[in-house]
Amino acid sequence: MEKIKKISDFNLNSKKVLVRLDLNVPFRNGKISDPTRIISSLPTLKEILKKNGTPIIISHFGRPKGKKDNKFSLKKILNSLSKHFKKKVIFCNDCIGLEVKKVLKNIKSGEIVLLENLRFHTGETSNNYNFAKNLTKYCDIYINDAFSASHRKHASIDKVTKLLPSGMGKNMEKEIMNLNKFLKKPKSPLTAIIGGAKMGNKINLINDLIKKCKFLIVGGGVANTFLKSNKFNIGKSIYEKKQLKNVIKIQKKAKKNNCQIVLPIDLVVSGKQKVVNCLNVDKNHQILDLASKSLFLISNIITESKTVIWSGPLGYFEKKPYDNGTNKIASLINSKKSLISIAGGGDTIAAIKKNKKYKNFTFLSTGGGAFLHWLEKFTLPGIEALKK
Ligand code: 3PG
Repeated sequence: MEKIKKISDFNLNSKKVLVRLDLNVPFRNGKISDPTRIISSLPTLKEILKKNGTPIIISHFGRPKGKKDNKFSLKKILNSLSKHFKKKVIFCNDCIGLEVKKVLKNIKSGEIVLLENLRFHTGETSNNYNFAKNLTKYCDIYINDAFSASHRKHASIDKVTKLLPSGMGKNMEKEIMNLNKFLKKPKSPLTAIIGGAKMGNKINLINDLIKKCKFLIVGGGVANTFLKSNKFNIGKSIYEKKQLKNVIKIQKKAKKNNCQIVLPIDLVVSGKQKVVNCLNVDKNHQILDLASKSLFLISNIITESKTVIWSGPLGYFEKKPYDNGTNKIASLINSKKSLISIAGGGDTIAAIKKNKKYKNFTFLSTGGGAFLHWLEKFTLPGIEALKK
């Protein structure tokens, strides 16, 4: 960490500061459903203004694949950013080119600019040098405050650091500090809760966690794949066929490492019979949540643990009442003040915050994929780029 410069290490007076944020916020019914990422970026923006610099914000939004597409315009975030920041934000219809040149030439100190979605250019995801050069052309300093996008070796995360004096923002600093402090040498017993619909991007992490954890609790679609690999009937539930072999290997490895993988005992399913034992899932059932016996077992394990890491909701939390399992576990963790509890992932944080019971969580990471990547490698490409 000592090798990375912080905002406080720079003289920002009259400087144009290119700030990489992650404004890739979730939308539901046309509205931002969780503004956490916007709110977490405010301290950095305020600090730049306080030091008489001009923040030039860059971010991606969705995955537009290198083409301009209004569906993915950062204009959709503009009002919310202004509202939270309590300040007008000037918008530029591109992130490179003539309009940017004009706007940045005329910008006055105290003003703030948001450039259009980086991913409207292929150069962003291909980490293209010329694209990075165009991006940095009218700026003096680069600050990365996008922890949650720093697992991507993209131009605005990586290549830009070769072109401008670079450092990290306050949110990035907070993420690195907390994750290092609590998870590099976690207090044991350590329990990991891994849920969510998909497990493909979690395989490496799970392989790693079974070496460190006493308990690995699985929920959501991840649990379905484990159940299926053990020949349980999961009816019409989602699971990942491609991962079945991996999951069998993981379970063998976990045994050798004295890590107990905790599968659900009972489940809430679709159809008339709402709660079933995991042995009684019917071919027409769809598993939608964990039921009371599973939750009781998980509660006991959490009570026994000193550190809990959580990524991924435990059921179909978007739809009531199937958010019950996720809510109950969030409340339980929140009630344990001496427990070190770290959660990450857009859906996980949205689920935890929806219940308004999160004040006692030790740390909520803004990262989704980045959080998982960090847990596995204890760093991210974007953090490494800042070290050089
Ligand atoms: C995220 O939402 O996890 C980040 O914004 C990264 O988005 P990406 O997976 O599209 O790169």
